[in-house]
Formats: sequence, structure tokens, C-alpha cells
Amino acid sequence: MTTFTVAMLAASPRKQSINVKLARAIERYAPDSLRFTWVRMDEMPFYNGDLEGNRPASVTAFTDAIRAADAVCCVMPEYNRSLPAVLKNAIDWGSKPMDANVWRDKVVAITGTSPGAIGTAVGQQHLRQILSVIGAHVMPGEAYISFKTPDMIDDQGNIADESVRAFVTAFAARFAGLVAKLA
Ligand code: FNR
Repeated sequence: MTTFTVAMLAASPRKQSINVKLARAIERYAPDSLRFTWVRMDEMPFYNGDLEGNRPASVTAFTDAIRAADAVCCVMPEYNRSLPAVLKNAIDWGSKPMDANVWRDKVVAITGTSPGAIGTAVGQQHLRQILSVIGAHVMPGEAYISFKTPDMIDDQGNIADESVRAFVTAFAARFAGLVAKLA
């Protein structure tokens, strides 16, 4: 079986983040063909062109990890109907310089969860637009998950609710299929 590496970007720094729980669940229910590496984004400074030529180690660690991965999975909260700044900052670092843009032709799955009914749907539209502009292959379709009860996904990524588990499993399987085709 061919295996593919996936850089997991969980875009919340909170210890009890529901998006980190969702990211763990995706890893847990994904087919064995996907091997996940969790990549940090919160150690990078804000993008500053003056640092080009002498990029901080946290930035080169990030861009090296994305470049080395066959695909990327973004799991994010929605902040004010958009993507969190930590993820936008990471995308900006990775997109520069233009001839070393790490997102070009990268297969990217996007999802997220919030307590709201259409939690993260609008933020994901922004994320999709940004990633498309810089040349990523963003998985078609929408996957936003309403985090209905505080224990919907446990700390290990186990999902008790059968319909949510089936949805996450299908999302991960669809991603694995796309990665196998395109990566
Ligand atoms: C939020 N939250 C939120 N939720 C939502 O569904 N749509 C939104 O636009 C926003 N906006 C927003 C802005 C900011 C600054 C914060 C801190 C929060 C609520 C959010 O979904 C909730 O706090 C989640 O628990 C955040 O995700 P993590 O950190 O638990 O993964």
C-alpha cells in the first residue's frame, strides 16, 4: 500500500480546542494510507518582508514541513466569519517568495467546527479562496461540523455520535482518495 504524508494544521492554540479534537478524530478515522504530521504555526512571527533573506527558524521549519508533505489538512475555528490569523500568517509565509510558494499544487483538505449551526462554513469560504489563489488543489465540497455537545469528540479523537463519526470517516476517505489521485 502506498502511504502519503499529511501535514495537519490545527488552527487553534487552546488546550481544550474543539478543532484540535476534530483534527485528532480525522487522524483516528482516516485510512491507513495517510500518515499525519502535526505542524505548529504559533511560533512564527507575523509576516515581515524585512525578514526575507534571514527567515526565522520557526518559519523555515514550517515551510520545510509543508514542502515535504504530500498533502495538507487544515482544521480551523471560524473567527468573525473568517479564518484565524495564525493560519493566515502561516499561509502568507508559505506563499513567499513566489518562486518557492509551498502551496502550489499541494492537495489541501479544509474543515472546522464551532458550536454554531453552520460553524466555520463562512470562514472556510475565505480559506478556500486564499488557497486557490496561491495554487493549491483544495478538496471540493464542504465539511463543517456543528459541535453540539461538549463531549461530542473526546481528547483522543473518539466520536460517540454515529452520524458524526460516519461524516468524519467519509471526509477522511474522500481526502485519501484525492491525495492518491493528485499527490
Ligand atoms: C469565535 N467564535 C465563532 N464561532 C462561529 O461559529 N463563527 C464565528 O464567526 C466566530 N467568531 C469568533 C471570534 C473569536 C475571536 C473567537 C475567540 C471565537 C466561537 C468559536 O467557534 C468557539 O470559541 C470555538 O470553541 C473556537 O474553536 P477552538 O479554539 O475551540 O478550536
